Amino acid sequence: MALKVPGPRGRWFVGELPEYEADRVGWLVRTRAEYGDVVRLAPNAVVVHDIEFARLVLGGTNDDYLLDSAPLAGRRRQDALRGRVPEWMRLRGLVSRACRAFLTPLGVEHLVRVHDAELRAHRGGDLVVAGREICGRGIVRLALTDDDPGAVEEITRAARRAFEESLTSLERNEPRLRWLPRPASRRAAESVRELQELLAVQVQRRRPAAGEVRCLLDAVLVEGVDDQTAAAAVRMLVFSAQGVPGAALSWVFARLAEHPGAARVVADETRGVSLGAALADGALPETDAFVREVLRLHPPQWMIARTTTEPVVVGEHLVPRGCQVLISPYLLHRDARWWDEPERFRPRRWVSGDVTRKAFLPFGGGPRTCPGLRLALIQLQALTALLAGGHAVELMSGGSGAVRAGGLLLPEGLTGCWHEPVLPRNGDGCA
Ligand code: HEM
Repeated sequence: MALKVPGPRGRWFVGELPEYEADRVGWLVRTRAEYGDVVRLAPNAVVVHDIEFARLVLGGTNDDYLLDSAPLAGRRRQDALRGRVPEWMRLRGLVSRACRAFLTPLGVEHLVRVHDAELRAHRGGDLVVAGREICGRGIVRLALTDDDPGAVEEITRAARRAFEESLTSLERNEPRLRWLPRPASRRAAESVRELQELLAVQVQRRRPAAGEVRCLLDAVLVEGVDDQTAAAAVRMLVFSAQGVPGAALSWVFARLAEHPGAARVVADETRGVSLGAALADGALPETDAFVREVLRLHPPQWMIARTTTEPVVVGEHLVPRGCQVLISPYLLHRDARWWDEPERFRPRRWVSGDVTRKAFLPFGGGPRTCPGLRLALIQLQALTALLAGGHAVELMSGGSGAVRAGGLLLPEGLTGCWHEPVLPRNGDGCA
């Protein structure tokens, strides 16, 4: 017989949520040690720490689980959410195919040029903000071409606003507030609509010649889709590329500065190499290893949520219908059961093959795995190679040890700069 999920008694209605909110990672580590791999967080939320269970939950998404984190939603709303799944899956299929079609050696060469220019246009300061701007504008430039810089700026601003407002609504837990006003969610929905309208104008303007793929929008249009679907696909793409890759880049800055030896290995691998062709071929194992190790220790989406649509058994425990199931890549990636020296930054583990790939979930898993995975990896590898090969990164404050685990995993108070070491420097370190 399946058992009830164990966990601290907590308070009426809210369970352990106040304790969890006060120190999220600390609460997870503590209760895992005390209660095991399936722990109750609140009456309608459990956390799963076992990799096999986590894979089963992610694999059952769109079926026993919905992605939406609305455990308080009634059956009618869950049915409505489920009804929207086929259309969403079609759109995300379009996004992955467009990314694949765009990432030819020529496309990756273009990606490298765009990100090189973005790095040169920034010099540092708040490295979380810098990371967000470089990656966010970088993807919009790849989505639309550089023919109309005004449109790129306007759409970058709109995409950033839409992403930040959606994150705010998530951080306030608004998707779960069924009966209360949801101002942040309303603002987010409005911003997403505005972004879609701006993109619809671009779709109408752009008519590539047959087979021409100069940008990601062209790659969507070669699929022969109607204008509205094309605008929705590009919206999905530029929206998703706003906060998460930028968060990853801020950790890359921190680790490049803290591990000059590992940065040198990347610089040596990429010296004299045509970056576009090598990245498109997957021919830079050391650079790839550096990026994977950053994503292992600092997965920007450090917590992934699902909601059960039926009662399910996880291990030996019964999880009721309408319950939120939380999986933390951050904890899984630092679990000594699957990783040697889990807390150590050791990129070479990826080159020597000393890794448990099934326990590596920075892009989620199952049918809702990140469809931008390859684009994201190539973008981060390009930025890592450009920084390691042509710049010195220096930190002014913060580092990889200071963590803010909110809607995204971000380094706390990370500031610094990067500069070309061959040029005469303005004083010592960051000017
Ligand atoms: C370092 C960069 C990135 C990381 C770490 C990342 C990670 C993730 C994760 C963890 C999810 C949730 C998966 C799940 O729930 O199982 C996700 C979803 C998604 N990502 Fe990414 N992502 C990154 C970059 C991108 C980029 C550049 C795109 C643009 C194409 C993108 C598009 C999406 C979309 C559309 C979804 C929603 C998928 C769905 O709900 O079906 N991501 N990503």
